[in-house]
Amino acid sequence: MSNSFIPPAQPIIGQPERDAVDRVLQTGMIAQGPEVAKFEEEFSALIAPTTTSVAVNSGTSALHLGLLAAGIGPGDEVIVPSFTFAATGNSVALTGATPVFADIDITTFNLSAESVEAAVTDKTKAVMPVHLYGLPADMVALQAVCDKHNLMLFEDSAQAHLAAINGQRVGTFGTFGAFSLYPTKNMTAGEGGMVTTSDENIARNVRLLRNQGMEVRYQNELVGFNNRMTDVHAAIGRAQLTQVEEWTKQRQANAARLSAELDGVVVPFVPEGYEHVYHQYTIRFDGASGDERDRMAEVLKEQYGVGSGVYYPVPNHRLPSLAPYAPGLELPTTEKAAKECLSLPVYPSLTPGELDRIIAAVNAVVKAGA
Ligand SMILES: Cc1ncc(COP(=O)(O)O)c(C=O)c1O
Repeated sequence: MSNSFIPPAQPIIGQPERDAVDRVLQTGMIAQGPEVAKFEEEFSALIAPTTTSVAVNSGTSALHLGLLAAGIGPGDEVIVPSFTFAATGNSVALTGATPVFADIDITTFNLSAESVEAAVTDKTKAVMPVHLYGLPADMVALQAVCDKHNLMLFEDSAQAHLAAINGQRVGTFGTFGAFSLYPTKNMTAGEGGMVTTSDENIARNVRLLRNQGMEVRYQNELVGFNNRMTDVHAAIGRAQLTQVEEWTKQRQANAARLSAELDGVVVPFVPEGYEHVYHQYTIRFDGASGDERDRMAEVLKEQYGVGSGVYYPVPNHRLPSLAPYAPGLELPTTEKAAKECLSLPVYPSLTPGELDRIIAAVNAVVKAGA
C-alpha cells in the first residue's frame, strides 16, 4: 500500500474542462457572454430547479449582491451562524447591515431555530443559514421563525450543490440562494458564484449590480460593481455540471464507508429525509480540547500521511474583523464545535485503498488517545 500523502481536498480537472476552456479561447471572446448564459440555464435546471440563476465571480459576490438585491442595507440586522466561513458574515457587513450571530445545533452543525428566535429584534430583516459541510439547515423550523416575525429567509448554499430536504434542493427554499464555485467545492468554475432566486426583481437587480448597474450599455441605472463571471470560467463550470451528480454519489458512498467503519468518534448525523452531499465529512471528538484535536490531526498527517482540515477553528463572532458586531456574545455550542470538529478526506477521487488508510489511521489515533 502506498504511503503517499492523502490531501484533505482534491479538485477534479480533466479533459472535459480543458476542452471547454480551449473552445472558448478559440472564439476570442472571453468576457461574460453566451457561455455564462448557458451555464446559468443549466445550473438552474440541475442544481436549483424552478429558479433563475445569475452567475457572478465568487460565492462571496453571490451573497453580497443577493443581499443588496433583496434590499438589505444600513440599519438592518441579518441573523447568521458564527460557525461558518467568514464570507457569510462579511457579506452582510459589506451591505452596511449588521450580522447578528446565532448558535448551532451540535448534531448537525447548522443554525438552531431556537437560537435564531432568541436573536430576533425589531431591526431584524432576514435570517441567512448556511448548509454547512453539505447538510441542509432545518429550513422548516427556520421558515416558521421567519413567518412568525415577518422576516426574509436567505440561503448560504456555498457548500451544498445538490443537497435536498425531502427532494427539494437547497437554493430553492429562500428568497435567494448563493452558491460558491471555488476549486475545492463539490463543483467548480475556477472561481465563481451563482445566485438562485424565483423573484425576477432580485434576479434583475443582481444582473445590474454585477455589471456597473447596466442592462443597456452606458445607461447605468444604479451604482454597481464589476462582479461578472467570464466565459472561460463558465465553460469550466458547464463541464463540471455534467459530472457533479456522479461525483456526489461517490462522496456519499465514501461517507457511508467512513461512517460504518470509524470507531470512537461522532460521525455526521443526517436527519430523516435530508440529502447530505458531503462537501466535508466532519467528525467530532466529543469532549476534546482544541489542542487535543489539533494533536490528533498532526499525528494523522505526520505518522499516517492523512490530511485533514479544521473548518472552522475560530468562531466568526471572535474574529478581529467581525467581533465588533458581537460584543460580549457567548455561543457555547459554536465554541464546542470549533474545538471538537475535524474534516477528513471524502472527495470522489479517493481510492478504496486510500479510504482503508484513512479509516485505519483515525481508528488507531483515537484508540491511542493522541
Ligand atoms: C459557507 C461559505 N460561504 C461563502 C463562501 C464564499 O465563497 P467564495 O470563496 O466562492 O467567495 C464560502 C467559500 O469558501 C463558504 O464556505
